[in-house]
Amino acid sequence: MTDHPAVEAVDLVKHFGATVAVDGVSFSVPRGTVLGLLGPNGAGKTTTVRMLTTLSPPTSGTARVAGHDVRTEAAAVRRAMGLTGQAATVDELLTGRENLWLIGRLSGLSRRAVRPLGDDLLERFSLSDAADRVVKTYSGGMRRRLDLAVSLIASPSVLFLDEPTTGLDPRSRIDLWEVLRGLVRDGTTLLLTTQYLEEADQLCDDIVVIDHGRVLASGTPTQLKDQAGRASVVVTVSDPGRLDEAELLMRDCFAEVYVEPAARKLTAQARGLADVATIGQRFVAADIGVDDLGLARPSLDDVFLNLTGHRAEPDGPEPEADDDPDHQLEGAAR
Ligand SMILES: Nc1ncnc2c1ncn2[C@@H]1O[C@H](COP(=O)(O)OP(=O)(O)OP(=O)(O)O)[C@@H](O)[C@H]1O
Ligand SMILES: [Mg+2]
Repeated sequence: MTDHPAVEAVDLVKHFGATVAVDGVSFSVPRGTVLGLLGPNGAGKTTTVRMLTTLSPPTSGTARVAGHDVRTEAAAVRRAMGLTGQAATVDELLTGRENLWLIGRLSGLSRRAVRPLGDDLLERFSLSDAADRVVKTYSGGMRRRLDLAVSLIASPSVLFLDEPTTGLDPRSRIDLWEVLRGLVRDGTTLLLTTQYLEEADQLCDDIVVIDHGRVLASGTPTQLKDQAGRASVVVTVSDPGRLDEAELLMRDCFAEVYVEPAARKLTAQARGLADVATIGQRFVAADIGVDDLGLARPSLDDVFLNLTGHRAEPDGPEPEADDDPDHQLEGAAR
């Protein structure tokens, strides 16, 4: 086996007329790992994925998937990869099973091979019961799962997922994460885009934060959080009437205490876990009841806020219309 990364992007740029959608993005995804492209609406996530999956030629820069150049070896790239695009691409008038068979056959699998693979995927994505119903009758979550199953039929070594869990309920999202972790355990490399910080935190080995087509930061989730600042001690007192007392008590221990009266919450910068123990004892001694007391590390949300100047908005403004003529290729790229 060669030791090339599963995906490598070098200075990728994409212009649409005067719009610079992607403005010099570079990263590398080692085989068997998960990279998250994290960014708000319009950041350039889909455009980057489309360049990597041969659907849209880069204006400049290069990219390789499984060692193959996306521009000059597109066919080899397509054989190595799977794609679940941002919009569902399954055929509404076919059943779930037929969709899987169709794409399996189109990717060159024999009739004999495609059946057990299809059954296995239907099972894995909890679609066995619905396998013979037309997709038109599926819920959004079921479609999303079928979309994923379809992109896996040809056992790709690299899987691209453009916002795989957007629109799913929390339960389905967690189920899907579990399926994705299973794929990674079996050696698949994942590149996913997401606007959900928790998703990036839960699934990704590395995160690349992009906005306005540029990389703002990259690193492991922990590295990014460390960058966002230190941990804090957070106390929520039970009785709002004792908030002042609690504040005085905290001020004994910390130089700065931040009070949110409506939430009955007090926050101070922590030096470590010992601070939590000390404060806990002081509250017990003073007999001030608390609903919650603990050490809070900065979240990816804080990271995102620091970098982009705004919080992540999973349900933010609508993505703009896609008038790229090579969009139709999306279905053929599996
Ligand atoms: N086919 C196109 N023609 C013109 N402009 C485009 C096209 N595709 C994308 N853009 C523009 O490029 C920029 C990046 O879009 P892109 O779809 O890559 O963002 P995104 O990060 O995927 O956003 P979202 O989270 O909304 O899916 C946006 O300003 C968008 O309007
Ligand atoms: Mg997108």
